[in-house]
Amino acid sequence: MGYALEERIGNPDLFTGRNEEMTYFLKWISDIKERKSQSTAVLARRKMGKTAIMERLFNITFFKNDGVIPFYYEIKENAMWVGDFCVYFFLSFIYQYIAFKTRKPEYLKPEEKSNFDKVIEIAKKEGLGYLCGIIESAAHAVSHERIDILLNIVREAPQTIAFRQKEFILQMIDEFQFLNAMVYRDKDMKIPAKDLAGGVFKLSRKQNSTFTGIG
Ligand SMILES: Nc1ncnc2c1ncn2[C@@H]1O[C@H](COP(=O)(O)OP(=O)(O)O)[C@@H](O)[C@H]1O
Ligand SMILES: [Mg+2]
Repeated sequence: MGYALEERIGNPDLFTGRNEEMTYFLKWISDIKERKSQSTAVLARRKMGKTAIMERLFNITFFKNDGVIPFYYEIKENAMWVGDFCVYFFLSFIYQYIAFKTRKPEYLKPEEKSNFDKVIEIAKKEGLGYLCGIIESAAHAVSHERIDILLNIVREAPQTIAFRQKEFILQMIDEFQFLNAMVYRDKDMKIPAKDLAGGVFKLSRKQNSTFTGIG
């Protein structure tokens, strides 16, 4: 197996044990296609190995290439304006999707993480022009600072694409708790966007299945 996503464990051989957990989650991921998997949360103290499991599940699912498209996103522990958060989250998703569809892991490490024009150019070049509509609508909402519209587009992007393409997307959001603690409504970062985790980004039980690490 290859390692498209660089795992923080370093040398992939260092990953040991976790057989029960891996078997459980690989079945859960495969069941997404039967619509049998409900969104789930992994709760454990820090340093217990949640991120290591998610990164490994990403790589296995990426290389299995068997009808489930993996998306991994770690919410960082630093304060961020919600508009910026949306741009990073959305473009990470689009790049990971393009990496999966083209079988080109280099798209997991894009040079321009917040450039909408660049990702549109890449989508077209790679024969994924159907992504352009949603990318353009997100870009429009960003440039006009229509934050609620933007949040809506971004939150639903994996579902929208999965539904339209008749695909299944596994969404793994690491450090979900920082969504409420670290993302702010205003650019001065005084008003926490408290409703994100509970409302806007609530765990989806539809086309894509969300898997989240909370530590
Ligand atoms: N299955 C594993 N085998 C070996 N080392 C692991 C394993 N899982 C985690 N580690 C190591 O333990 C540390 C904490 O793991 P991490 O996944 O970051 O925990 P968490 O996300 O729960 O805080 C890291 O240094 C990681 O490399
Ligand atoms: Mg972690």
